Amino acid sequence: MKFSTVATFEKRKQADLLAIPFWKVKKKVEAASTVSDFKAYAKVPLELKDFKGSEGEIVTVYPQNGNKEKRYVLLGLGDKDKLTVESLRRAYAKLVSFCQSKKDVKDLNLLLPQGSELTENSVAQGVAEGLLLSNYSFDKLKHDSLKKDPAQFIEKVIFIGASKKELAIANKAQAICEGVYTARDLVNGNADDVTPQTLASTARSLAKKFPSIKTTVFDKKRIEKEGMDLLLAVSRGAAVDPAFIIMEYKGAPKSKETTVVVGKGVTYDTGGLNLKPTGSMETMKSDMSGSATAFGTIVAAATMGLKANVTAVVAATENGIDSNSYKPGDVYSSYSGKTVEIGNTDAEGRLTLADALAYSVKKLSPTRVVNFATLTGAMVIALGSETTGMMTNDESLAEKFSEAGEATFERVWRLPLFKEYRDQLKSDIADINNIGGRDAGSITAGIFLQEFVEKTPWVHFDIAGTAYLSKARRYNPKRGTGVGVRLMIEFLENLGKKTAKA
Ligand code: BES
Ligand code: ZN
Ligand code: ZN
Repeated sequence: MKFSTVATFEKRKQADLLAIPFWKVKKKVEAASTVSDFKAYAKVPLELKDFKGSEGEIVTVYPQNGNKEKRYVLLGLGDKDKLTVESLRRAYAKLVSFCQSKKDVKDLNLLLPQGSELTENSVAQGVAEGLLLSNYSFDKLKHDSLKKDPAQFIEKVIFIGASKKELAIANKAQAICEGVYTARDLVNGNADDVTPQTLASTARSLAKKFPSIKTTVFDKKRIEKEGMDLLLAVSRGAAVDPAFIIMEYKGAPKSKETTVVVGKGVTYDTGGLNLKPTGSMETMKSDMSGSATAFGTIVAAATMGLKANVTAVVAATENGIDSNSYKPGDVYSSYSGKTVEIGNTDAEGRLTLADALAYSVKKLSPTRVVNFATLTGAMVIALGSETTGMMTNDESLAEKFSEAGEATFERVWRLPLFKEYRDQLKSDIADINNIGGRDAGSITAGIFLQEFVEKTPWVHFDIAGTAYLSKARRYNPKRGTGVGVRLMIEFLENLGKKTAKA
């Protein structure tokens, strides 16, 4: 999607559609733009009660003088005094699905709503994000149906009368959404296509594309040499080799601060010898969503030229099943030296993350470590698909991420890591067990991870419920959402702002 501006309403060029925003002011519907007299177009729809101005409501009118656009779309935004960035995202996502249903709509002339409580910048951001996040579909695996019914995307959006700043904000949203699309594509791809080697080569090609990115990949031999025996244990049942991927983005070369983003990269989770039953395995190509978020964050940062240092770390492997699989009851050692009794081979994510986290804190001198993982089914039970679970050893990180969650509407909710939960992970043969029973399943997984970060400020996001949707919702498509990318960028940008002020 390409954004541009035109100075005035009169100077606008031809497009497939003109979108005119309307909102409700004390129950009366009013045009949210005054560059021309739009009320006339809404007269009949309002009289017939075909248009009420509710959020995302759409009515098409066909102007007599339709020489620039054949269609005008009246787009409802809901109550003017309740307008938020999120309500704009939702309303403009509805506009995109309307355009996609029309099949011939590629270029939009668009009027930004003016005169609400929101700043002009926030309006531009909400509108652009709503358009961008919903202008996505994953069709790589379709052949015949795509020929008959090709996916329709919006290619050009022209903001009428918008300032340079508003355009810059839309372009920044575009850069961030490149990261979201990257994450979604990686999650949606076939597990047999998105293997640890695919993740490694994606990381390598990103380093080729962006001079600000440096990629290092450890192959199986190097992983053995490093002593990442937990990652190796998980990978034993798979036909594909594991890969340990480090992707460094340097946007603030003079600063010593680095945020390490560790992502769970289990490219398929069968459960291993503790095999998952039918009904629980079918979505498990999404078990690398955490790594997709880490990659997406790097792509977004590099595309927008974010002034911060971010390193993505992914211990990628499949959790397959084979006569060589790692065994429940056996003990394996981690990169940190701690030994782990395997209570269940389906609790594999925390094993791979343990090695990735231990390596990160030992070798990458991070200021803070943030990890994203589709870690526990218990998380889906607790918070569903609306909210990501957050666990952390740092109060200030909790606060900052809660704020970033509100701003992006990638909302997070904190769960405690009280030390008393550690008892559930006791082992009488090793330092720790990888399972802690059904009670507080998401928390004991978090407690397990914490053992491998020690004192480093750290946040764990369990995205088991939010990374993959069984139904499209608002501006999120069905399947991979790319959750976490916008959250991370918002957090990193705010860090910069706060240090600049201090
Ligand atoms: N990848 C799963 C968690 C998951 C479940 C993600 C549903 C998304 C949707 C993870 O590896 C897993 O299987 N966890 C087990 C842990 C248990 C054996 C302690 C679980 O949650 O059942
Ligand atoms: Zn599992
Ligand atoms: Zn898993």
